[in-house]
Amino acid sequence: MARLFFAIWPPAVTAAALGQWAGLVQREAGGRALKAAAIHLTLAFLGDLRPERAAAAIAAARSVHAAPHELPLEEAKYWGHNRLVWVGPRATPAPLEVLAASLATALQGAGFVLERRHFVAHVTLLRKVRAECRLPSLPRVEWPVAEFSLVRSTLAAGGSRYEIVERFPIQG
Ligand code: 2AM
Repeated sequence: MARLFFAIWPPAVTAAALGQWAGLVQREAGGRALKAAAIHLTLAFLGDLRPERAAAAIAAARSVHAAPHELPLEEAKYWGHNRLVWVGPRATPAPLEVLAASLATALQGAGFVLERRHFVAHVTLLRKVRAECRLPSLPRVEWPVAEFSLVRSTLAAGGSRYEIVERFPIQG
């Protein structure tokens, strides 16, 4: 069994800038900042899967069509209900909506039960934040989206560890 999800990983320079920003917030607001290498945007969370179901998820992901695009990170927010600080676009870019929706449809077609919540493009940077605080302005970063990945999550001291299992280029 492996705990799996589909996600988009930022370029290393973008991850480094976001990790630094998260460190600034942590000094003010406490909580656990994600390490730069762990920063990602989740497209679909699958949970614990047996190897044959992981293979079915990979086959479903190969059937997905979407267009490469840029993910603007325009705002930072604090969610009090789960004590997260996250960054994301003001509105989910249309090609990212298409990507998330077509992946969800492909997975549902393969028998996966996904959360029915509407997809909100967000990149979690801190968890277990003590309290809402004034968030510093965001660094200017570029995040071209040209592929997505199936990722394995394992619990480790100091947060989850993520390994990319398979990459899927985004094609129209
Ligand atoms: P989050 O950042 O909003 O918590 C790996 O756990 C990734 O899957 C995280 O980015 C997490 O989003 C997302 N995720 C979505 N649903 C989840 C669930 N039910 N349990 C754990 N993680 C979930």
